[in-house]
Formats: sequence, structure tokens, C-alpha cells
Amino acid sequence: MPYLVPYAQGPAAPLRKTSVYLPEALKDRLAAAATRTGRSEAQLMRLAVERLVDSEPAVGPVGRLDDPVVRRHRRGAALVGLGMGPGDPGLVTARTVAELRGADRVLAPSTDLASVGRAEVIVREVAPEVVVERVGFVMELGGGARSKALAAAAERVVAALDAGERVAFVTLGDPNVYSTFSSLADEVRERRPAVPIETVPGIMAFQDLAARAGTVLVDGDERLVLLPAREGTDPGLLAAAAADPSAALVVYKGGGRLPELARLLADAGRLDGAVLGELLGLPGGRVAAVADVADQPATYLATVVVPPVRGRKGPLQAGNPASREVGATGIPGPPRPDGTGSPGSEPVAARRPGRRAAS
Ligand SMILES: C[S@@+](CC[C@H](N)C(=O)[O-])C[C@H]1O[C@@H](n2cnc3c(N)ncnc32)[C@H](O)[C@@H]1O
Repeated sequence: MPYLVPYAQGPAAPLRKTSVYLPEALKDRLAAAATRTGRSEAQLMRLAVERLVDSEPAVGPVGRLDDPVVRRHRRGAALVGLGMGPGDPGLVTARTVAELRGADRVLAPSTDLASVGRAEVIVREVAPEVVVERVGFVMELGGGARSKALAAAAERVVAALDAGERVAFVTLGDPNVYSTFSSLADEVRERRPAVPIETVPGIMAFQDLAARAGTVLVDGDERLVLLPAREGTDPGLLAAAAADPSAALVVYKGGGRLPELARLLADAGRLDGAVLGELLGLPGGRVAAVADVADQPATYLATVVVPPVRGRKGPLQAGNPASREVGATGIPGPPRPDGTGSPGSEPVAARRPGRRAAS
């Protein structure tokens, strides 16, 4: 029986079958996504087109370099720091994705050039077509190794800028908060003062943690104090901040000193409601009441939030059933766009102090 083209029969309404425009490999991926999410292929295609059309005027370039939309938005040589969020690809902004796609070159900091860094992993999730070049970074302060690596990275960026490129540098969280980007930007600015340096904000680890733990960080006249607690930081600074009951505390870089931190918070009467988020949005991530997990150090990628003293209990209190469950198994992170759970829902494999990741 001959194959009849349906719309050759002269139906009243014209049939537009857009899927014929898709390459076979993409059709397969679309079919898999439909099965995974329980939606029809048509629904998914409509969603994708709606997102593209809705976001274009607000976020700028959404396509590749040869896309006319991208070309219209390009502004010549520039260095741009991109905030990739703490780990969950669902927390990367549309603007960051657009910048990733519009950049001539995307660089990622790496303490080990043979390994995929955290920020690079997130790029792979949100824009798999983007090629990432690793740039060696040394995180340890002091000694000449760090400044030597920074200078080498800056030279690489400068060479690209001199060729007229828009260079994106990806960083965990936000590029203006304890980020390798600001050190790199200083070096580049010194060498090329006239070249524009921009940043695209990213969601910070403490915001992700507050959301996962259900912690209202500050309200009304309360204050927010963000402080680092790396090895060698004066514990008096933390004690002074903890002594103010109307200040919420966010502690970064203190994973290796978790037991000490917990003691200090207990002494200040601030252990209640204090929450640890470790490897948020990344494999092995966990969220737990500090009091329940302070028997040993956490990794470098750990954040503690302590709400102000308000006399009301949050969901993650030490010793309550939710906390115990969280300490043992981790709690689910926000769902990914494809409907699956986030890596934050995975149990913690090991709780040992780990290597610091470039961020
Ligand atoms: C060099 S700072 C980077 C901060 C980052 N630029 C930001 O805006 O969140 C590294 C610290 O950020 C926090 N951090 C970053 N990513 C994290 C994650 N996925 N989970 C928990 N803490 C994280 C930790 O406190 C870590 O010690």
C-alpha cells in the first residue's frame, strides 16, 4: 500500500510537524526526556521554544557564536566572571548560561589539570556543547606558587583579550564573594587597564543551604555576618559575631574546624538552629544540624548558617527526628529541571577533610 502524506489529503487544518526538523540523535534524546519526565515530546518541544522566546530579550545571547542573536549582543574583548552557583545545575541563572554560550573562550580554575573541577562539572551539565579550558590555580596562601599560577593564568587571559576575545571565567557561587575570579581580575586589570571586566552573579552556597534547611536568615532589623573560618583565622572574630544574638552568621571555609566551631557556638548559646551544608548540590552532599555532626571535621566545601536568636524553632534542630534523618541520609535538594532529584539527596560517603577545590 502506498504511503500517503497525511496533509496531501487536503485536511481543513494544516498539520505542522516540527519534529521533522530535528536531527535523529536529538529526537532520541527528546524521546528519552519524555519518558523520564512523563511529558509528551510535543509538550517538551513547546516548553523549550517558550523558554527560548521568553528569555531572549532579557538575557541576551541564547545561541552559539554564529547565531545572529549572539552576534548582536557581543561587545568585543572583555573578561567576565560567571557565577555557577554552589553545585546544583538547576541553580545556574539563564544569564550565566547565555554568557557561557556567547563567550569565545571559557576558562575554569583547577588545582589539578588532569581532573574536572567543580565549576567545570556544572558547565558540562548546563551547556554541554561549551568547551572548557582548565587553568592551573594554587589555593594555598603564602609561598610563591599561588602568585606564579595567577600570573600565568592572567597572561593566558591577556593573550586572548589581545586577540579580541570575550573570555568567561567560571567560578563556584558568586564571582564577587571569596572567589578566585577577583584575584585573576586584579592581575588582568594591572596588565590591561582599559579592558572591561564584568561579572554575572551566581547563587551562593549559603543561600542554597538556607533554602534546603528552611532557615530564615534575616528579617526586620537583624544583621547578617558572613565570615571565613579557615585554619589560622582568629576564633575571637567568630566569638564576637556569635555574641550578637540578633546577627545571623554564615561561616565559610570552616569545614576543617567544625568541632571547634560547634564548641564555640555552644559556648555562645547559638548551637540551636545552626546548620551545616557540605558539598551542596554535589555528589555526597549533606545538610545536617551542626550539633549532630560536629564529632569530626567536614570538607573544605562546607558552609554553616546560624540564624539569629528568635525564640522560634526551625525545622533542623539538633536531636529532632528530622535532623537525625538528615544526618544519616542527607535530605533531598531541589529537583533538577528534568524532574530527577539533585545530588544533594545522596548519602554522605565519607566525612574526612578533603582537598580544597578551586572555586
Ligand atoms: C572560596 S569560597 C567560594 C564562595 C563562593 N564564591 C560563593 O559565592 O558561595 C569557598 C567556600 O564557599 C562555600 N561553598 C562553596 N560551594 C559550596 C558547596 N557546594 N557546598 C557547601 N559550601 C560551599 C564553603 O564555605 C567554601 O569553603
